[in-house]
Amino acid sequence: MMKDFLCLSDWSLTALEEIFALTKKLKDRQKNGEPHRLLDGKTLGMIFEKSSTRTRVSFEVGMYQLGGHALFLHSGTTQLGRGEPIKDTARVMARYCDGIMIRTYSQAGIEELAHWSDVPVINGLTDMYHPCQIMADLFTVIEHRGNYRDLSYCWIGDGNNMANSWINAAALFGFELRVATPQGYEPDAEVIARAQKQGVKLLLTNDPREAADGADVLNTDVWASMGQEDEQQAREKAFADFQINAALVKQAAADCVVMHCLPAHRNEEITDDVIEGPHSIIFDEAENRLHVQKAIMATLMGPNV
Ligand code: CP
Ligand code: NVA
Repeated sequence: MMKDFLCLSDWSLTALEEIFALTKKLKDRQKNGEPHRLLDGKTLGMIFEKSSTRTRVSFEVGMYQLGGHALFLHSGTTQLGRGEPIKDTARVMARYCDGIMIRTYSQAGIEELAHWSDVPVINGLTDMYHPCQIMADLFTVIEHRGNYRDLSYCWIGDGNNMANSWINAAALFGFELRVATPQGYEPDAEVIARAQKQGVKLLLTNDPREAADGADVLNTDVWASMGQEDEQQAREKAFADFQINAALVKQAAADCVVMHCLPAHRNEEITDDVIEGPHSIIFDEAENRLHVQKAIMATLMGPNV
């Protein structure tokens, strides 16, 4: 078993499917009001260098429901924010906490943190990946469609951390993925190359209609991610055709589902009517962050489950 949850590609298909199975069990127990204190007395340290609503709340509530406790640490108020080295922070936090969740910019930074930490480290988003979100997304697809397999997925918009993680997921889980981005906004070249070596069924295009054609799952995200606020205007121009709207949904399978990790910029990358419409599973997707992350934490930090 892996010590950390930094990137989907570090994990095996079997181990990730076990996380889905545990997610289902824990979600059922929570819905039935049955105690499931798998992390009784344990503490998760949560370091945030970027803003968050879902990630912070779902990890904190998740730890509480598992019988543990979560500490919110905004990096700006810690010594990390004043330049204390990651390797020192990692070793000190590992002496107090049973696990560390971090949301930051650099993937190399969290790899360094994990290297120096004796306790599990979980990626709560970097510029490169957002693996907890993809696990929640796929669990939501399973709930709505019975399975994640034999479906075609499309990604419309920016080749960002979410798109990179979807490519990792496509390579690992074996589903077909079509990614439509404007030219110059493609996903990470190394992520694509690694997935292609693994035989991924991946189509890269600049045409959103080609990506959405007959797709079972439509997925998008903001045009400018956290840290790219200065590029907002230029991106609005480049991404103007890359919107999930009623016309694009019509292009997809009649029973398609629409996803968005949130927060959304309504009527930019996705229209208001699609978010609120019958194909949207966006709020189930947000809820499942809680359940899937409980399973990830229990797997990494708990006794055998
Ligand atoms: N989807 C997601 O990670 O949301 P937050 O930025 O609110 O945590
Ligand atoms: N791509 C977005 C995801 C937010 C959850 C960002 O990095 O800001």
